[in-house]
Amino acid sequence: MSFVAKTAKAEGSLSGVAPLVRRTPVPEFDFVLFGGTGDLAKRKLLPSLLQREAEGVLPSHGRVICIGREPLGTQEFVSQALEPARDPGSDALARFCSRIEYLAIDATDPSSYAGLAMLLRNSEAVRVFYLAVAPQLFAPICAGLASAGIATPESRVVLEKPIGRDLASSCEINDAVGRIFQEEQIYRIDHYLGKETVQNLMVLRFANTLFERPWSAADIDHVQITCAETIGVEGRGSYYDHSGALRDMVQNHLLQLLCLVAMEPPTALDKDSVRDEKLKVLKAMRPIQDEKVRSATVRGQYRAGAIAGVPVPGYLADLGASESNTETFAALRVEIDNWRWSGVPFFLRTGKRLPKRCSEIIVSFKPVRHSIFPASAGLPVANQLVMRLQPDEGISQLTTMKAPGSGRIVLLPASLQLSFRDATNGHVPDAYERLLTDVIRGDATLFMRRDEVEASWRWIEPILDGWENHTPRPLPYAAGTWGPSAAIALIEREGRSWHEDSVPAPASFVENLR
Ligand code: BG6
Repeated sequence: MSFVAKTAKAEGSLSGVAPLVRRTPVPEFDFVLFGGTGDLAKRKLLPSLLQREAEGVLPSHGRVICIGREPLGTQEFVSQALEPARDPGSDALARFCSRIEYLAIDATDPSSYAGLAMLLRNSEAVRVFYLAVAPQLFAPICAGLASAGIATPESRVVLEKPIGRDLASSCEINDAVGRIFQEEQIYRIDHYLGKETVQNLMVLRFANTLFERPWSAADIDHVQITCAETIGVEGRGSYYDHSGALRDMVQNHLLQLLCLVAMEPPTALDKDSVRDEKLKVLKAMRPIQDEKVRSATVRGQYRAGAIAGVPVPGYLADLGASESNTETFAALRVEIDNWRWSGVPFFLRTGKRLPKRCSEIIVSFKPVRHSIFPASAGLPVANQLVMRLQPDEGISQLTTMKAPGSGRIVLLPASLQLSFRDATNGHVPDAYERLLTDVIRGDATLFMRRDEVEASWRWIEPILDGWENHTPRPLPYAAGTWGPSAAIALIEREGRSWHEDSVPAPASFVENLR
C-alpha cells in the first residue's frame, strides 16, 4: 500500500504558475531531410514537425524538403510518409503537407545535388540539413552539399547517432563533416536530451534548494539509470547487430543522463557552459578496463521468452542468423573520481525484450544516521528520488511517513508523486518536437559537442576491448526477464538492489488502524 500525495496541480496550486514563457519565434527555414523515406522520418521527425505546426509554432515560410533514393512524386511521398498521421482532415495537416517537397538524390553522387541547389537558390531562410542516414553517408553528403555550393556558412547540419562505432571512426566522421561545416554549425542529436523529464532534471537540481545540499557522496548512497525496452530489434537487425546495447544506448543516452545527474552547476544555461560541465564528468569517470570488465560489467543476449504473456522469439530468430555475439543487454557499475562523487556507484542498465518499457533515474539517499523510533515502529526507509523519463513521465520521492491511526507509531514508506501529464494538461512533448525547432532557432544547448562524443567513446572503448578479450560471448537471458542473473548480482552483492515500482508497506500498517 502506498500513501500517495496529491500533485500540486490536483491541489490547485499550479494554477498560480505563470503561463509558459514564449521563446523567440521560429525563423523562416528550409529543412532538408536526408533519409526522408526512412523509419525515423516517418515515426518521429515528420510527426514532430507536424505537431509543431498544429501548435502554430512554425512560421508561414518554412519548407520541409525530403530526400530519398526512390524516385517518388511529392504527393506519393506525402501519402506514404504521413499516412499514419492523426486527424487527416485537420488544417494543420493540410498546411504541413503544403510545406513538403520530395527530391530523389543519390547521396554519393555529387552531380545529383543540382536539383536541391535549384530549390534552395535565392532562399535566405535558415538552412538545416538533417542527416537521418547511416553514418557512412555523412561525409559524402557533406561533400555533395559543398560541391553544389549549398553548404553556406550560415547553414546547420544535424547528425543522427551513431557517430562512429569507436573513437577512431567517430573522429573520422567528425573530421569529414568538420571539413565542410564549422563546429558551431554541427548539431549532434541525442534525442534523450530533448525528453521533457531529462530537461526537468536540470530544473529539479538547480532550481530547488531542497536538492542542492544533499547532492553528493555525503548523502547519496548510489544512483541507478535504467532504460528498458520491451521491443526487440524490429527490422533494424542489420544496424543493431553491428552496434549492440553498449554502442546503441550506453555510449550516448545513458552517459548523457549520467552527466546531467553528476555535473556541477553550470555558470549559465548557454550551450558551452552546460557542455563543459558534462565533459568534466566524462573525463572523471574511472575507466573500466582489462580484468575489471568482468566484475563491473554484464552483457547479455535475449533468447525466446514471453512479454506480458505473449511469446516472443529470441535475438537470433529476430535477426534471421544462426550466430551473433552482439549484446542486447548491458549493465555497468561506474565510478566517478571527483570530489562530489567519490565512493558513490552509478549502476546503469539497458536492454531489449525486458519485462516492461521504462526509463528512469533513481537517486538513492543514505538512511538516516540514527533512528529515534522504537524497533516496533520499523526502520525509516532510505529516501529515493525517482525520475521517470517514460512512460508516465514524472517524479516521485520515496519518504518515510507515520502510518495514520491512533495506535503506536508505525513508520510507513510513502511515495510523493508528481505526474507531468497531470501538470501539463496531458501533452508531454516528444523529444524531437523541441530539438527540431531548437536547431532552426540555432540553440545547440541540448546537442552534443565533438569533444563530448569523443570523450564518451574514449571511456567506452576499453569495455568493448575487454569484452572481446575476456567475455566474448554475451550471457543468455529469457525475453521478458531483467537480463542475465549476473546483472542482479552486480548490484546485490553490495547489498543494494535494482529499483522496483512498488513501495513496500509494513504488515503492521493494517494492524495499526484497529
Ligand atoms: C535509439 C536506439 O537511439 O533509442 C534504439 O537506437 C532505441 O535502439 C531508442 O530503441 C529508444 O528510444 P526511446 O525514446 O524509445 O527510449
